[in-house]
Amino acid sequence: MAELFDEIEINGMVLKNRSVRSATWTGMAGKDGRCTTRLIRLMDELARGDVGLIITGFAYVMPNGQALKNQLGIYNDAMIPDLLKLTKRVHAANGKIAMQIVHAGVQSVVRQRRDAPTWGPSAVYDSLFRRTPKAMTQREIKETVHTFARAADRVKRAGFDAVELHGAHGYLVSQFLSPARNRRTDRYGGPIENRARFLFEIYRAVRKSVGRNFPVLIKLNTKDFVRGGLNQGDALFVAKKLDEMGIDAIEMSGGVPAAGDLGPARPKIRKASDEAYFLPLAKKIKKKVSCPIILVGGIRSYRAVNHILKTGAADLVSMSRPLIREPGLIRQWKEGDRKKAKCISCNQCFGAARSPEGVYCVVERLAKTRKKKQR
Ligand SMILES: Cc1cc2nc3c(=O)[nH]c(=O)nc-3n(C[C@H](O)[C@H](O)[C@H](O)COP(=O)(O)O)c2cc1C
Ligand code: SF4
Repeated sequence: MAELFDEIEINGMVLKNRSVRSATWTGMAGKDGRCTTRLIRLMDELARGDVGLIITGFAYVMPNGQALKNQLGIYNDAMIPDLLKLTKRVHAANGKIAMQIVHAGVQSVVRQRRDAPTWGPSAVYDSLFRRTPKAMTQREIKETVHTFARAADRVKRAGFDAVELHGAHGYLVSQFLSPARNRRTDRYGGPIENRARFLFEIYRAVRKSVGRNFPVLIKLNTKDFVRGGLNQGDALFVAKKLDEMGIDAIEMSGGVPAAGDLGPARPKIRKASDEAYFLPLAKKIKKKVSCPIILVGGIRSYRAVNHILKTGAADLVSMSRPLIREPGLIRQWKEGDRKKAKCISCNQCFGAARSPEGVYCVVERLAKTRKKKQR
């Protein structure tokens, strides 16, 4: 069975180990979504920290699909030159990098105006985001499918090693998958075969645009953890179907913002049993698919990592918050220092990502300031 520092190949992309930096919005992109030197510096640090595969923060495929400020964009060709600088830098540091692409749907920062409402599968009020999206027409669905395909082609032309579709966490694809948000009565709503049609069309179009030999990954929920949301059976159906269609790897996550403490980035991971909180559900999916499974969510210790890999519960392990606090964590483990990640899962880094400098670990910074004062 595999160990963390074993190589793995995913559709021709050879990773030096089984670690993944899960997609993380950094708040470091330019106003218009361009890649900045700050972002390049951070990715370079992760590559030098021996992360096997870095996944960028979610990049919006069209302006009305932007979720947050200073989020990466991939909505036109003008984005490519700066992204080429990023991929070159990561490759020079012997790293591999994928870009995650998204349409945020109702979870978009675009204010709901009559001339530019947010989009969703159905006009269902979202009490967390306090708005009702416009139900997309079939024409808008088609347009969005093409937009994903064009964005994926840009990802390839910008020198990335892979593209990851964001199908989780309550964004547009995940909204289509969820019966709570998708009340359509046409071919995109109803049974899971229909609710997943939008995603399958995106996958097919993306595959066609990047070709058979370019790795296409997806981040999917094992479950939404809200009443009426995507359930385990639905998730299994989607994963199996994508596997048959030729997806190259599935990153298993879970939760939507309305799930609170059962969301994607859960707080209070204190003891070993709190770690890898999507493992039980992901394991069931792993048994039914042939493509590699990447597990994300609350992985904090080398012990948990090796347990996941050695038992074959997943093929790769993915982390976000631990690598915000310690970008060099994987290298540290490789060099024999196997201490648990210092991240305490307090989620204050979400707020930090809104600061002008972009994401940083609030706890680490406070600790450093305190130390300085004591000197
Ligand atoms: C600041 C921050 C930004 C995030 N941005 C993204 C994102 O852009 N795309 C995504 O799929 N998940 C995003 N996530 C979720 C993480 O990728 C990951 O699924 C979650 O944090 C659980 O993993 P962890 O326990 O290792 O942090 C973000 C998490 C944090 C803390
Ligand atoms: S602020 Fe730091 S300790 Fe808290 S979750 Fe973020 S990375 Fe972890």
